[in-house]
Amino acid sequence: MTTLRMEEAAHAILARNDRGGYTVPTDRLYPFQWNWDSAFVAMGFATFDVDRAYRELERLVEGQWDDGMIPHIVFHAPSDTYFPGPDVWGTRHRVPTSGITQPPVFGMALRHVHEAALTSGMADAEARTKALFQAALRSHRWWLDARDPEGLGLVSILHPWESGSDNSPAWDEALARVPTTTTTAIRRKDTGHVDASMRPRDEDYQRFIHLVDVYRDCDWDPKRQWKKAPFKVADVQMTAILARATADLTHLAEAFGTEEDRTELAQMRRRLGDGLARRWRPHLSRFVSLDLISGADIEAPTQAGFIPLVALTLDDAQRSAVTAEIGRWLDGMAVGVPSTPAFSLAFEPKRYWRGPVWAVINWLIADGLRLNGAEDLARRIEQSTVRAIENAGFCEYFDPTTGEGLGGDTFSWTAAAYLVLGGRQ
Ligand code: DGY
Repeated sequence: MTTLRMEEAAHAILARNDRGGYTVPTDRLYPFQWNWDSAFVAMGFATFDVDRAYRELERLVEGQWDDGMIPHIVFHAPSDTYFPGPDVWGTRHRVPTSGITQPPVFGMALRHVHEAALTSGMADAEARTKALFQAALRSHRWWLDARDPEGLGLVSILHPWESGSDNSPAWDEALARVPTTTTTAIRRKDTGHVDASMRPRDEDYQRFIHLVDVYRDCDWDPKRQWKKAPFKVADVQMTAILARATADLTHLAEAFGTEEDRTELAQMRRRLGDGLARRWRPHLSRFVSLDLISGADIEAPTQAGFIPLVALTLDDAQRSAVTAEIGRWLDGMAVGVPSTPAFSLAFEPKRYWRGPVWAVINWLIADGLRLNGAEDLARRIEQSTVRAIENAGFCEYFDPTTGEGLGGDTFSWTAAAYLVLGGRQ
């Protein structure tokens, strides 16, 4: 297909997954609005329909809780093709939602959409950005209060689903401590849509649902959850995305924030930047998350170790170490960057976050490399992502060893990544 036909196909996927101002990640497998999917999708929409890009973020905010949390799923309309649905979460928001969150790409997306609106000269852009800026700021306050109560400068996930990298080898040790018993009956639907060999295992799901049971029993109260959590990881990917989104909000605060907002955002940035910088491990050439229950570094190699580049300026030694390390991960791969490298014992090229390549992760890694002056590698990763999509279609993820498309198809965020990264070629 020509680039133009591919762009039209990407637009068609976004139109097909539109459920009325919000976009499902893909039909049936993910039939609701997902938090970080929607933020990437909004940036994709901003390449051709800025009004619709704002709408995506506005509909996501309909799910924001009074305490500021933006949940990971907003159940705008019922569907029986997904487990666990609203009945399992048992939250009390007026629009039904899940009770956990997801990476706060929202602030990055808001700046992106706002800048597209300025370019296109949209009339109501100011008012829309202003309202969404306030929502984003409230959510960042929630992150620091609820997920860094001890002031580490790192925010924690209490559930692997929050990371977006559900079955990453990074969680193996911490998740193994979580019991497999559940009070909720598990009725997986995902393996009816996608081959089980590409999805998390049943045992993972037992632990995932055990965690949901524990937090529902805490009435979704952040302080009670923090005390009770059997899984608590200060995650460098999450912290980096929050830090980067904080920088983007700082930029927007020049026009839309008060003096106090600007001071507060500057403090947040410093706190997160310092926290992240302490997670650099020279012997691994990447950043590592911290298991707050065992107190140990999580050294398993995963894509998360490179995401801090979106928020930090590396020194020369770090920059050359990271670029060499990413080069090693790309070596021998048909398409990179693998979510787990082939040299790791945990590598499974087709199983979700244990090896496959994700277009939106490549988008973040390329952005981080470019911010750190590694333009050539950034372009190489962007080009190989665009080529992978052109060869295999708008799949959920790709086998790094063959480039085969895997998981769900006609995926919204892959379409968005194509539009944004393709536009940079
Ligand atoms: C799932 O159900 O696969 C999701 O990743 C949870 O958000």
